[in-house]
Amino acid sequence: MRVSYHGHACFSLEGSKGRIIIDPFLTGNPTADITPAQVNVAGILVSHGHGDHLGDAIEISKHTGALIIAPYELAVYCQRKGAQAHAMHIGGSHQFSFGWVKLTQALHGSAVDETQGMVYTGSPCGFIIKLDNVMVYHAGDTGLFGDMDLLGKLHPIDLALLPIGDNYVMGIDDAVVAARLLQAKTVIPMHYNTFDIIKQDPEEFAGKVANYSKPLVLKPGEQAMF
Ligand code: NI
Ligand code: MN
Repeated sequence: MRVSYHGHACFSLEGSKGRIIIDPFLTGNPTADITPAQVNVAGILVSHGHGDHLGDAIEISKHTGALIIAPYELAVYCQRKGAQAHAMHIGGSHQFSFGWVKLTQALHGSAVDETQGMVYTGSPCGFIIKLDNVMVYHAGDTGLFGDMDLLGKLHPIDLALLPIGDNYVMGIDDAVVAARLLQAKTVIPMHYNTFDIIKQDPEEFAGKVANYSKPLVLKPGEQAMF
């Protein structure tokens, strides 16, 4: 299974049965290494409605037919904008052609900021994804919560993708606790250095987390195999 980092919270995962992208914030993302037109996937997982996560999901779905997988309220929002969508909700899992997906809680908000006002899109989520027997946890945007311990026990995690940017999400020290609770074999930091307000040193995170989980700092455009 190949993991590619596209900057901010956007990753693509490629297994033997297909490729997915998570939180495809590409247009307007100063760190993105690809454009929406280069995205060719079976599924687009969207954790919540904020622009830096929903990103180009609707446009990619409209142009390629790729299925948006999101919490119910956000999935319906995307359908009404012309996208193909599969609605799920927290605690639910489903087997797709490319692999297995379960929605997890995330402590955050979820709304699309439209010119006429905020359109609220239900609860935000994280994802546990199993592709080719590799278990990946993408935390979405979240603060630290103690049930990360439960997630790790229920679904032994090979790779955790954790926000470290602080301000809107966990900072470095809370993300280190998250890694300890999850007991993931490998952890990749995300959601930092896209903007000044979430500036962080990923090497500081790597140093602090190394007692609990193997850190892997990817630059946008870099890949790793699992
Ligand atoms: Ni957010
Ligand atoms: Mn965000």
